[in-house]
Amino acid sequence: MENKKEERYLTFALCKGRLANKTLELLEQIGITCEEMRDKDSRKLIFVNEEQRLKFFLSKGPDVPTYVEYGAADIGVVGADVVMEENRRVYEVLDLGFGKCRMCVCGPETAGELLKHHERIRVATKYPLIAKEYFFNKKHQTVDIIKLNGSVELGPIVGLSDVIVDIVETGGTLRENGLGVLEEVCPLSARMIVNPVSMRMEYERINGLIHRLKEICE
Ligand code: PRP
Repeated sequence: MENKKEERYLTFALCKGRLANKTLELLEQIGITCEEMRDKDSRKLIFVNEEQRLKFFLSKGPDVPTYVEYGAADIGVVGADVVMEENRRVYEVLDLGFGKCRMCVCGPETAGELLKHHERIRVATKYPLIAKEYFFNKKHQTVDIIKLNGSVELGPIVGLSDVIVDIVETGGTLRENGLGVLEEVCPLSARMIVNPVSMRMEYERINGLIHRLKEICE
């Protein structure tokens, strides 16, 4: 009992919204709970489970890998798109299997030809690193990348860009705006990431957690 009191807290950074709720459901299945977090009216930013020596906090998705890289959180859960785009020094340890969607090159049908002929096109995206990696390193096509912060589908509609690189889940946004998927960049889903120092220092606890989660995710 004395030991338990001195055990250090493991801190989780979760991405605000649907992903966080899904993660908590998953953690509950392996006996990890956080009662405090159920109170939807709470304005608290950090939640503690004293018994299990765990802390949880919610942040904006792109900040999750930042907290984990600097060790402010030991563990993070965020979409694969964010893990790739932020490119932080963290270990990606588990595909949690939910939050499934695809990173795609999208645009009007006519833009398909521009892609085929490797023309120098304009690509609007919230994910410049992923777009660069795809066009420059995988397709060997020189393109101009324009960073946007949301509603990226507007790019080809208003004539800012020829295509976009964006997340497609149901395809509804594309359909309603007269655009379609032209190429698939990669499949996406929620990932668990770990701080490399935490992984070494708290190996047994973190690895135990990964194994228990693996059993229910596979
Ligand atoms: C995401 C993405 C697409 C849309 C795809 O946007 O950027 O716009 O969801 O989903 P669908 O295929 O099911 O229509 P988000 O809602 O996160 O907002 P944003 O456009 O402001 O980034």
